[in-house]
Amino acid sequence: MNEPTLGGRFTFPGTSLTVHRMGYGAMQLAGPGVWGPPRDPDGAVAVLREAAAAGVNHIDTADFYGPHVTNQIIRKALHPYPAGLVIVTKLGARRLPDQSWQPAISPQDLTDGVHDNLRNLGLDALDIVNYRAMGSIHGPKEGSIAEQMTVLAGLRRRGLIRHIGLSNVTAAQVVEAQAITEIVCVQNNYNLANRADDALIDDLARQGIAYVPFFPLGGFTPLQSSTLSSVAGRLGATPMQVALAWLLHRSPNILLIPGTSSVAHLRENLKAATLELPPHTVAELDSIAANAASRSSERQR
Ligand SMILES: NC(=O)c1ccc[n+]([C@@H]2O[C@H](COP(=O)([O-])OP(=O)(O)OC[C@H]3O[C@@H](n4cnc5c(N)ncnc54)[C@H](OP(=O)(O)O)[C@@H]3O)[C@@H](O)[C@H]2O)c1
Repeated sequence: MNEPTLGGRFTFPGTSLTVHRMGYGAMQLAGPGVWGPPRDPDGAVAVLREAAAAGVNHIDTADFYGPHVTNQIIRKALHPYPAGLVIVTKLGARRLPDQSWQPAISPQDLTDGVHDNLRNLGLDALDIVNYRAMGSIHGPKEGSIAEQMTVLAGLRRRGLIRHIGLSNVTAAQVVEAQAITEIVCVQNNYNLANRADDALIDDLARQGIAYVPFFPLGGFTPLQSSTLSSVAGRLGATPMQVALAWLLHRSPNILLIPGTSSVAHLRENLKAATLELPPHTVAELDSIAANAASRSSERQR
């Protein structure tokens, strides 16, 4: 697959790391509920090898997926890693035996998390580490992240982390973190139906910082919309391809990491980078979030 089919390139600011805008998110490679081994371990390896063979050079992961499982599958599938592959991981959570997601944000937790990632990925240094703030089920929650950013900056000075990003954060937390260290990317929940971060995306674009939406396809509840289906039908594409193409169109600093455990879905998703969205189609797709917001405010009245 040649470069334009993967959405063009993006260089993380102040780094030598350049990736195709169409990447891959590895969370779906763990077992059900992001817990334990996958139902089809060979299939998981096949997805990663297919992605790398297609030119994907940006993979998102976390050692708390599984836990450990996703990183171990990435290592099995791709180590020794091809030149230019950028693996982005996250710190800030741990899984308990009841499968719950709990904060892991003390200096020791963060340091241990870096070593877990290094060991399970088979690396000497991590390209990019996002500090993932826990927030609430509704999204990010205000509150200082200065202590955690200071710890990450220290781990960076020790050479264990090359660059730092953020996840599940507010605009104020981005500003707070930037006073402590350089931030190269922000990974928040954003898609056609959830556009709470519109202003943040534009602000990060002005600064050349990557915005990496998680749940680009709706995550655990995949996007469903009659407008999306109708646009997809007219373009001869699938709704998921249109949802991804819309994100690529939304802003040049958006990098995609759609997750899938299926080679067929991976191929379908990568092809989204070749989909052209005519302007009237973009306006139609923009109406999805506006309509969702007005329905939600009607419910609250
Ligand atoms: N920072 C954070 O807090 C955070 C949170 C969540 C996720 N993430 C990262 O973001 C990545 C993306 O998010 P996500 O994987 O949760 O959600 P997503 O990419 O929005 O959607 C994944 C879901 O869509 C399905 N899917 C994928 N391609 C499809 C297609 N072409 N047709 C139909 N269904 C399709 C997948 O099922 P199949 O496996 O059957 O394809 C899976 O159920 C994750 O992999 C992870 O790396 C980060």
